[in-house]
Amino acid sequence: MKKHILIIPGDGIGPEVTTWGKAVLEQIAADHEHEFTFEDGIMGHAAIEATGNPLPEETLTKARGSDAILFGAVGHAKYDNDPTLKVRPEDGLLKIRKELGLYANLRPVVLFDELLDASSIKPEVLKGTDILFFRELNGDAYFGEKKRSEDRDTASDLMIYHRYEVERIAVKAFEAARTRNKKVCSIDKANVLESSRLWREVVQDIAKEYPDVQTVHMFADTAAMQLIKNPRQFDVVLTTNIFGDILTDEASQIAGSMGMLASASIGDGTGFFEPIHGSAHDIAGQNKANPLASILSVALMLDISFGLKEEAIGLTDAVRQVLKLGFRTADIATETTDSKKILGTKEMGEQVLILLRQTLSVK
Ligand code: IPM
Ligand code: MG
Repeated sequence: MKKHILIIPGDGIGPEVTTWGKAVLEQIAADHEHEFTFEDGIMGHAAIEATGNPLPEETLTKARGSDAILFGAVGHAKYDNDPTLKVRPEDGLLKIRKELGLYANLRPVVLFDELLDASSIKPEVLKGTDILFFRELNGDAYFGEKKRSEDRDTASDLMIYHRYEVERIAVKAFEAARTRNKKVCSIDKANVLESSRLWREVVQDIAKEYPDVQTVHMFADTAAMQLIKNPRQFDVVLTTNIFGDILTDEASQIAGSMGMLASASIGDGTGFFEPIHGSAHDIAGQNKANPLASILSVALMLDISFGLKEEAIGLTDAVRQVLKLGFRTADIATETTDSKKILGTKEMGEQVLILLRQTLSVK
């Protein structure tokens, strides 16, 4: 199979983790006789520094011309501490999501048994958790009109949804549920928000077309509590942009660390694959970041964009084997981890490559 992949390393730990995402793609291409070609694009703070624009037109053109995109992270402490700055690294990410019509953000929360003790939640509560989040990605307060009064003392972000936006993501979630445990939990705040009442109405309509799927509606505050109390009750979770942003960070703790969670953004065109973690400037350039979320994002790319199921499963297995052997990056290490097995970004990436080669030679 021939595929052209755009790599957007971005900021902070982005370049370190995408290096390993790319390395596993190269290894898989060599092992399975695929031809993957690569190109780099800039975005975020890196792009602002180089061009003044967080998403240069050139990156967007490259994105449109590629078969899939592997993205690292965007952000910089400089902007976080100064809310008055007009151009922000995150604008690049939001713009590419909109321009490419990436309206569905899939965030699987799967706990490797080997990491049961890495979470701060009790293992007996966590064991067997397998949730697939469908976070809407093109609407909500993220993209609604933003206003600031002339005296600068009043501000608003319009939380807005259109029926078609809810419909298209709901269909994706229900279709996915059919291939899983046939349960959809739709999360909103319909007791307070009009946009959530529309959301619930539309989801109820779509649910009628999927009588074989059990549908539950939950308020976002209750869901935040239930995720920690009893995460196993969830199968497919369908939610809005802002609630999905918050709840998936919370859910990452079920998987042990933000450093383990991969995501796929899909919609009208090219798929976009990224870890859910941010740029983590505090550890950038120190060989400390966990590359597994980037590597698992590649597994999602292989499966969803290229339909290479066997390769995707092989890659996820290689990650599982590395964990089974006891190797950990600092974020997923515990008091009982053998200190010799606490690895840096590079060493962890190399272990995954070793295991990938081994699984292949066993076949
Ligand atoms: C995410 C991130 C982004 C978001 C930021 C970086 C704009 O937190 O992908 O979850 O809020 O969507
Ligand atoms: Mg987020």
